[in-house]
Amino acid sequence: MSIVDVATSPTQNPLSDPAPWWRQAAVYQIYPRSFADSNGDGLGDLPGITSKADYLHELGIDAVWLSPFYPSALADGGYDVADYRDVDPRLGTLTDFNAMLHALHTRGIRVVVDIVPNHTSDQHTWFQEALASERGSAARARYIFREGSGPDGALPPTDWVAAFGGSSWEQVPDGQWYLHSFAIEQPDLNWANPEVRDDFLTTLRFWSDRGVDGFRIDVAHMLTKDLTEPLPSQAQLDALPRDGMHPMVDRDDVHEIYAEWRQVFNSYDPPRTAVAEAWVDKARVPLYASPQGLGQAFNFDLLEADFDAGQFETVVRDNLTLAELSGSSSTWVLSNHDVVRHATRYGLPQPGRDETGRPVRKHGVDWVISGGVSPVLDRPAGERRASAATLFMLGLPGSSYLYQGEELGLHEVAEIPAADRQDPTFFRSAGTDLGRDGCRVPLPWETGSDAGSAFGFGTGGSHLPQPGWFSDYTVAGQALDPASSLELYRSALSLRRMLQTDEQLEWIPTGRSEVLRYRRPNGWEIVTNFGTEPYQVDRDDVLLASRALDAGTLPGEATVWFGDLAAN
Ligand code: GLC
Repeated sequence: MSIVDVATSPTQNPLSDPAPWWRQAAVYQIYPRSFADSNGDGLGDLPGITSKADYLHELGIDAVWLSPFYPSALADGGYDVADYRDVDPRLGTLTDFNAMLHALHTRGIRVVVDIVPNHTSDQHTWFQEALASERGSAARARYIFREGSGPDGALPPTDWVAAFGGSSWEQVPDGQWYLHSFAIEQPDLNWANPEVRDDFLTTLRFWSDRGVDGFRIDVAHMLTKDLTEPLPSQAQLDALPRDGMHPMVDRDDVHEIYAEWRQVFNSYDPPRTAVAEAWVDKARVPLYASPQGLGQAFNFDLLEADFDAGQFETVVRDNLTLAELSGSSSTWVLSNHDVVRHATRYGLPQPGRDETGRPVRKHGVDWVISGGVSPVLDRPAGERRASAATLFMLGLPGSSYLYQGEELGLHEVAEIPAADRQDPTFFRSAGTDLGRDGCRVPLPWETGSDAGSAFGFGTGGSHLPQPGWFSDYTVAGQALDPASSLELYRSALSLRRMLQTDEQLEWIPTGRSEVLRYRRPNGWEIVTNFGTEPYQVDRDDVLLASRALDAGTLPGEATVWFGDLAAN
């Protein structure tokens, strides 16, 4: 609930501010196929994003990060790129891209695009050339081709398992096999090949010349590989330490690539930014986030934590320390296009943990597999905790990454019929893992869904089916309702922009293990009650609260922000 009414429009275009914007930005992730559809083909597109530029401005975000919008056969939701320097014709044209960029820039919103360097689509001209060329050819040397094992090489070179299930190797008609760490349609590139390296520099310059402000680097820890024969088995790979010398992941030599990229980024004014998606041991994150490398890296620790004070405090302490080591700022994420939405995760029983503290299964996956039937989701509890967690996150120093639809308190959609599913994890696991379609269902903009209107997403239906309960979560239904999730996000983002000055954070003891309190610049304080018992607070200068305070007490599962705007 918003207690004070805060103007959302900045007086000056933030793009003219010379300070490094990315250090404390609110970045909104758009999954373009599911945001807004301008031409009624059921797929979101770039003109759809342009048409929502005012919505994004009023939300109060600093930047958008666009998941891939490049030509793609959609074997992995666009992360199978057929041409890195064009727009998928179903999503628009380069001219549409320019128009979108202009519309966002004039509203003070920066634009980050996704770069997918570990693999191309099998539709990429390079891979088509490789298929048409002989073994040992220059065209094959852009990818990772090997002879098979067993008599006649009829078996894959190794027993390696791909991230989406099944073998990591696929055989081509002349008998050779190629490596694909993800889907069959995503052949891994050979980063030992200078031509591959040069081509990505061209891509980075292509988008930088067009005016994009930064890049999100997909699986940044996987590019370089040591494929010296004999190749190890999967069990041997799993047993090897991830110390920079592992043959397949997080190798020290990947940073040679990013040092070269940094020179490209720094050749622009202002320098282009980058953020690494790197699933690596904590101690190695600063290598990716260093100013000589990509400059910033995701941490997914909040996303993997339960709604629990102890876990949240540890995550924040650890990551602020890591950020100090690299000289970067931390990032925070509660939801993205790969995980069950946080309103739903927090409404489900907490998952078990393994010995390293990681959830045994990704939060909520069991529930998705059961089609959302069992165990029962407690929607109001999930939404209450999600709002509290979001306000906790938005108070932290560093950059918060928000995923489209979370501002609406949107839940995961579990009830997608098998015939409508798109995620390769579903197909490669023979349906035992329903995958990520449930967080990628097109957004509900308008209340009421006449035939084809898809809750205002577009006039031609929606490429993933929207459930009837979306009518309770629409933008139109929430706008201007002070009790809505959307207005809470708007108020929080607007206040945050005024209150974020330096990057200091000071913990304040609360005397209660389930209550966290921290102070930011100029007396801005954030208190989150992760428990269910109300908590007595000693301040009354409430700026914002996810649940109304009652006679000086903060209800359970709620966050309050205190502060004095005049001090800022
Ligand atoms: C990243 C993306 C995910 C994609 C994978 C392969 O993890 O976030 O969506 O499937 O990389 O590109």
